[in-house]
Amino acid sequence: MGPYGYSVAYETMHVLRSCDVMGEAPDSRRWLDRQLAYYRARAIEYDDDYEQRIPVPLLQQALAELPIAGDVLELACGTGWWTPLLAARARALTASDAAPETLEIARQRVRDPRVRFQQIDVFDWRPRERYDTVFFGFWLTHVPPDRMPEFWAVLRGALRLGGRVVFMDDGPAKAQIEELLEPGGPPLVRRRLRDGAEHCAVKVLYEPDELASVLSELGWDAEVRMVDGYHLTGWATWRGDRR
Ligand SMILES: C[S@@+](CC[C@H](N)C(=O)[O-])C[C@H]1O[C@@H](n2cnc3c(N)ncnc32)[C@H](O)[C@@H]1O
Repeated sequence: MGPYGYSVAYETMHVLRSCDVMGEAPDSRRWLDRQLAYYRARAIEYDDDYEQRIPVPLLQQALAELPIAGDVLELACGTGWWTPLLAARARALTASDAAPETLEIARQRVRDPRVRFQQIDVFDWRPRERYDTVFFGFWLTHVPPDRMPEFWAVLRGALRLGGRVVFMDDGPAKAQIEELLEPGGPPLVRRRLRDGAEHCAVKVLYEPDELASVLSELGWDAEVRMVDGYHLTGWATWRGDRR
């Protein structure tokens, strides 16, 4: 484990010599604000990745094999790539994101009366309803390690007895294409937009066993599997539900 509570395969990352967060005291609240600003600015070009680089059919198949049922909440839904697939398997689906810009694109993409959209910042949210499934795609690796206990505690409050958290995300090999800001420093990577603007995002890449063990320490029984070299999926149930 590194000093920030994660151990990831960043050795192969291109390391940048300078960054505007260098010299700052580690502050995951500030990282989260920067990350959200990045996704808000990226909303209109977000789908480029799906059209150019992401193996969508493979991930759709992986999603089809995940246990998704009942009343479903999707967190960090982005522009809604997975939302229709979740809707097809849910009794009802609430799709949410903190960025109004991505939510609006998702709203236009998914015109399904069973889907409700809601703006939720997961770090400023207390669930008022309970769900059978909470799903998030490509979100967990954006949660700073020091926020994992808080995030998973909130998830507990969003689930019905016996409910599941289900996720899909980047696997450790994605380190090859990320630009870590500072070796041994905070888990922050540099992202660039089409116009050349530079942003920062949190990125914590886990080996499947490592992630299952982090979740186990937080009280969750988790199954995490690689889909291919670059992606993983998993689900978790709160251990206390079985008592
Ligand atoms: C990598 S994208 C994933 C989007 C979508 N789930 C997908 O798989 O394409 C991360 C998403 O997290 C959202 N996000 C960023 N900070 C957030 C926060 N604090 N709470 C909820 N969503 C957030 C961003 O707006 C963005 O849509």
